[in-house]
Amino acid sequence: MSEVLYLGKAKSVHSTEKENELRLVYLDQATALNGKKKDEIIGKGQLNNSISSEVFRYLSSKGVAHHWIKQLSENEQLVKAVTIIPLEVVVRNIAAGSFSKRFGIKEGTILPKPILEFYYKDDALDDPFMNEDHIDYLDIATKEEVAFIKEQAFTINDCLKELFSSIGLTLVDFKLEFGRDSDGRIILADEVTPDTCRLWDDKTNKSLDKDVYRKDIGDLMSVYKEVEKRLNERKGE
Ligand code: C5P
Repeated sequence: MSEVLYLGKAKSVHSTEKENELRLVYLDQATALNGKKKDEIIGKGQLNNSISSEVFRYLSSKGVAHHWIKQLSENEQLVKAVTIIPLEVVVRNIAAGSFSKRFGIKEGTILPKPILEFYYKDDALDDPFMNEDHIDYLDIATKEEVAFIKEQAFTINDCLKELFSSIGLTLVDFKLEFGRDSDGRIILADEVTPDTCRLWDDKTNKSLDKDVYRKDIGDLMSVYKEVEKRLNERKGE
């Protein structure tokens, strides 16, 4: 029997017969504003499971260590069990979202080099912005681990920029989460989907990501389907 270990906003985490493996269920739910805006969107879980699985397959081909093992069904995937490090690691290539707001930088401004930010993963505190001294003070990770996470995040940025550019999308920014496996090794966890990345169409500059839902500027399902379609076409080539 599998037990629900964690119920998140976009996924639930379940135990399996193996202690070192978990089952993730991608939910038909969209949220924004830390859960204040919330809707059931039938079919979203399936799309994100498929997109995330394809991104993890690609990252495997580039030698990036991550938790994904395989897709189990339309809505489920099997992953390595990790203890999630309570950090949201954001990498930005182009100014948008909270970065534009916080620093008054026009959306769409190309950043001369990628900018990495840390947020404390804590819904009750609204995921506050944090720096490396805060991470140290709160004993979230050692200095060496933080250096490793930063290096991994920049490597993953290079891989993802290449992947999305090959399907006509610009990777504006994204959020990653990392976890420690049973050996204490830090690996990429969670998901990489249009929920967690900003993706702009190269030709039209239109958002093909959760901003359509956050800002009410389009239909989430049709843009997520477009991302999935382009990834599948690339796979077929
Ligand atoms: O809102 P903000 O501009 O800080 O978001 C930066 C990137 O991180 C966006 O791609 C957004 O989708 C992602 N993000 C996320 N989960 C959060 C906060 C941001 O996936 N809790």
